[in-house]
Amino acid sequence: MRQPLVAGNWKMNGSLDSIRTLVDGIKAGLGEVKSAAVCVCPPYVYIPQVVEMLDGTVVAVGGQDVSDQEAGAFTGEVSGTMLKDVGCRYVIVGHSERRSIYGESDEFTARKFAAARRFGLTPILCVGELLEEREKGITDEVVARQLDAVIELEGIAALADAVIAYEPVWAIGTGKTASPEQAQEVHAFIRQKLAGLDAGVAEKVQILYGGSVKAANAAELFGMADIDGGLIGGASLSADEFLAICRAPDAV
Ligand code: PGA
Repeated sequence: MRQPLVAGNWKMNGSLDSIRTLVDGIKAGLGEVKSAAVCVCPPYVYIPQVVEMLDGTVVAVGGQDVSDQEAGAFTGEVSGTMLKDVGCRYVIVGHSERRSIYGESDEFTARKFAAARRFGLTPILCVGELLEEREKGITDEVVARQLDAVIELEGIAALADAVIAYEPVWAIGTGKTASPEQAQEVHAFIRQKLAGLDAGVAEKVQILYGGSVKAANAAELFGMADIDGGLIGGASLSADEFLAICRAPDAV
């Protein structure tokens, strides 16, 4: 049985004040969350404060990105050792905004995935197709290519303790959620592809759905056989909305 995971990706949002309010709100409602593991991914600079605010709770903290390097002359970068040092457990790698806005390739993403693992973090590997790729009918091909870059560098076993987030790019921040059936189809494809290499890994790996998840559609999405929770952007900035999504697996 895979435990559901709900991870909030705050992206480049918030201030010390607003984040304190958000975290207080999340803490106040955690007692109602039964089955899901919960994680929040603040902007780098707020991570130490958020770790402190969440001390003693079940909520894990993650980074939104990580350098592929360990240390040295890499201006602007943050390493996996640093994220681990300040209390992170997870890190998002290959988010579509990194891939499309900052031009990060499949190979570069794979190196970040490797760096995350090397420093003891659990990578949340984002994969997903653009609208034109879906329209061309090449969704599976795109997702397979993104996964293969990681498998080639790190081997299939590396995915056993990782998290995959399927995020159709056309559904991110657009209010257009993939239907539960559309999402399940890709999640099943991912699990079958991994099963072809290692059935144990396929059974174990958590596959989250991301893209306009909100309280109103979370239970339906999380009810699908191969959807093990969600990576939540916009809706994770409201404590009430985020908590309702965290409770959604309890209704499944
Ligand atoms: P969204 O973002 O929930 O705002 O669509 C999801 C994500 O980018 O991880």
